[in-house]
Amino acid sequence: MGRIYAVGIGPGDPELLTRKAERIIRSVPVICAPTGNADTSSYALSIVEQFIDRTRQEVLVQVFPMRKEQEGLSAFWEKAAAEVAERVRQGKDVAFITIGDPFLYSTFLYLYRIFREKYPEIPVEVVPGISSIGAAAVAAGIPLGMAADRIAILPTTYEDDELRKTFLEFDTVILMKVNRAFDRVYALLKELGLDRKAAFVRRVGSGEEEVVFDLGSLVGEKLDYLSLLIVRKG
Ligand SMILES: C[S@@+](CC[C@H](N)C(=O)[O-])C[C@H]1O[C@@H](n2cnc3c(N)ncnc32)[C@H](O)[C@@H]1O
Repeated sequence: MGRIYAVGIGPGDPELLTRKAERIIRSVPVICAPTGNADTSSYALSIVEQFIDRTRQEVLVQVFPMRKEQEGLSAFWEKAAAEVAERVRQGKDVAFITIGDPFLYSTFLYLYRIFREKYPEIPVEVVPGISSIGAAAVAAGIPLGMAADRIAILPTTYEDDELRKTFLEFDTVILMKVNRAFDRVYALLKELGLDRKAAFVRRVGSGEEEVVFDLGSLVGEKLDYLSLLIVRKG
């Protein structure tokens, strides 16, 4: 019996992998990489490609569609979990790579639940990674918290009232998955006088990294899924 490693690989810069992550990725016989769409390449895989030797390591790209309606998605997770379990039972260690940290809004968490429920005999080791939040804060030059500051992290799926409440109650707010709701969030920030106290960060750590402080310039644009917004008062 092999084991599963859930490996956090940081937000985009291969130098932001931990030594442990690099060691595991270089040594395991199987690497699983998630992608949102069968037609697009895996961003996670692009980060670690330089550590992989495809002559002796199998790379399995697994599709996890990104959509709001959860119906039908569990079939993809079950299939991915079964593919991993099959290899582990052959005695192979499998590294499931995940952007940032595996325990922060990651696709791996759905698989983790399945492994725990359906394959409890398979050992799972989680390797923490540098999250996109920490890296984005540094890229934007915005400290996340000092002294008694309160920090909120949330996906941008909430209605305006909930978001408004969060902006009012917290000193720093990080909005993940902000791309589709950006225009609505921008209107709220303007209403609260916070539109100049925020940074939009895209693909932090990668060659396509972008930090935008003039949020108005993004209104109406099609934005990248791999982007987040940091709003900090004061
Ligand atoms: C499914 S969550 C994964 C979060 C990840 N586990 C982490 O620790 O950063 C995906 C969201 O994370 C954020 N994200 C992930 N990678 C990013 C990057 N390189 N630059 C900016 N935001 C990123 C975006 O908000 C994206 O919509």
